[in-house]
Amino acid sequence: MKHFLSIAALTPNELLHLLDLGMRLKAEWRNGGNKPLLKGKSLALLFQKPSLRTRVSFEMGMVHLGGYAFYLSPNEVKMGGRESVADVARVLSGYVDGIMARVFAHEHILQLAEYGSVPVINGLSDHSHPAQALSDLFTILEVKGKLEGLKLAYVGDGNNVARSLLFGAMKVGMHMAIASPPGYQLTDDDFRLAGEFSTHGAVVERLEDPHQAVQEADIIYTDVWTSMGQEAETAERLRIFPPYQVNQQLVNLAKPDCIVMHCLPAHRGEEITDEVADGPNSVLFPQAHNRLHAQKAILVELLG
Ligand code: CP
Ligand code: NVA
Repeated sequence: MKHFLSIAALTPNELLHLLDLGMRLKAEWRNGGNKPLLKGKSLALLFQKPSLRTRVSFEMGMVHLGGYAFYLSPNEVKMGGRESVADVARVLSGYVDGIMARVFAHEHILQLAEYGSVPVINGLSDHSHPAQALSDLFTILEVKGKLEGLKLAYVGDGNNVARSLLFGAMKVGMHMAIASPPGYQLTDDDFRLAGEFSTHGAVVERLEDPHQAVQEADIIYTDVWTSMGQEAETAERLRIFPPYQVNQQLVNLAKPDCIVMHCLPAHRGEEITDEVADGPNSVLFPQAHNRLHAQKAILVELLG
């Protein structure tokens, strides 16, 4: 593994290895702290969009592993404006051992990897959010004790988070049903790739009806209706998405021990109700906390 740009680029074995390594690093951390595997290593955290979880979990992950990380704000670097992406990559590569970047255009993540000479981690682009998907598989494995054969129902916008989850689910043999309104579904190409990535007979169902999607689900997952960068579409999306709200009536249609997940930040009262977010099926906060542990595996693998 040279970079961590997308789940699509990982083999099932690489994905399972990262999950296993993350589990071991979490256990080690709980038993008194991690070994300083990244002593003397540095990571630039380059952001074109806001963040709470991604910024803090990567930064603290480096701290726990004995390394150093620093934050570069959107206004500071103005990547692609003040300076080309290629030049940012070339310059940073002389200062740091790795770059974690959150961008609008996925092309910019690819350019950072192409023109830089250090490992690049995708911390969310408009196309995908692979660090989130890895952490989410980690949480599912931790809570359910397995991945293969489970059914994940994703309800809502066919966005970056949904895409990475779909690819991840297929690669670990989890079934997935995705219910999104017409016009807001993942692309034909995504579903074709999902078929190619399928292992252990994992199948994906492309649906419009959220009620159908959650039948027999072990996991219900949702995300915001309007992602960062789509703010101009907010009113239109608020008109279209209400039937896709994850509320208690919807959760009641899934398996009784179904867990509810959300990458956060949540727009409570829109895609998820307080009752569900704070209810007995919710794993929202352990899920957020596991970003720290699962991502340490990426850091050790790329920088260690
Ligand atoms: N889930 C997630 O990536 O959160 P942030 O946008 O706060 O980093
Ligand atoms: N789909 C959301 C995820 C935020 C972590 C967005 O891109 O804004």
